[in-house]
Amino acid sequence: MNDKKVAVVFGASKGIGFATAELFASKGYKVYGVSRSGTSAEGVTAISADITDFSRLNEVYENIYAAEGKIDVVVNNAGLGISGAVEFTTDEQVAKILSLNFSALEKSCRLAAKYLRETKGKIINLSSVAGALPIPFQSYYTATKAAVLEFSRAYNLELRPYGVKVCAVLPGDTKTAFTASRDKNELGAEVYGDRIKRSVSRMERDETHGVAPIKVAKVVYSLAKAKNPKPYKVVGFGYKFLVVLARLLPTRLVDYILYSMYAK
Ligand SMILES: NC(=O)c1ccc[n+]([C@@H]2O[C@H](COP(=O)([O-])OP(=O)(O)OC[C@H]3O[C@@H](n4cnc5c(N)ncnc54)[C@H](OP(=O)(O)O)[C@@H]3O)[C@@H](O)[C@H]2O)c1
Repeated sequence: MNDKKVAVVFGASKGIGFATAELFASKGYKVYGVSRSGTSAEGVTAISADITDFSRLNEVYENIYAAEGKIDVVVNNAGLGISGAVEFTTDEQVAKILSLNFSALEKSCRLAAKYLRETKGKIINLSSVAGALPIPFQSYYTATKAAVLEFSRAYNLELRPYGVKVCAVLPGDTKTAFTASRDKNELGAEVYGDRIKRSVSRMERDETHGVAPIKVAKVVYSLAKAKNPKPYKVVGFGYKFLVVLARLLPTRLVDYILYSMYAK
């Protein structure tokens, strides 16, 4: 058996996953980085897999376990964004975002349990500040990230007696290829005018001025290292402040602010 800790990072070819895989490798972990393109940072063993194919996902887990004899950390990071008005979103778009952002993640969590019980390991799931603060015209993205947050918290409680920890990370705007890859649907201008375009442009501008992915990777790593990690962690003081403030203020006021920022 490998005496290095073994980490599996899903969505390791770019952005936050790439930085996370690279950071874990630099800290002495044996890292497997999974993505469709099958590329990752130096020192990371890259695996090509579409994780929305559940039998392939299962195979990835089995192969890593067969090679290493253990798995210590799983980072469920692969995700995508879609934008547009709910009523004009296509069935294909809905299926695509649910299958990657939630179904693949929960399946990965299900598969990981038996391996992580052996090592008292950790699952770290990428949610988003959008999982705590709803973003109009990104309602499906918001829904998947809220689901990731609450699923992680509930699953963490189920696994507590076995020493397995499940944590969620909530990044705010982070500068990655995520922005360019967003599936943008601008249908419905006859009803919504230019509200959709304005909302998404604002989000895009913020993302392109966002933090470097290494900042998020460091939070993921700190949770992996912590003996008693927080169930979830918001990345960056500013976003932490906003999430706490939003819980303290009346919901109608918070929603009015979000409306003014992203839906007017
Ligand atoms: N960027 C932000 O501002 C931000 C903010 C909050 C939360 N997040 C969350 O952080 C996570 C990472 O985002 P990012 O910004 O780093 O995105 P990114 O740069 O677009 O990277 C996404 C990663 O997921 C992989 N991936 C996509 N579909 C896949 C599939 N079907 N099977 C396997 N791998 C797949 C991609 O690789 P391939 O294309 O090679 O498959 C890539 O490695 C996401 O869950 C995102 O929602 C991002």
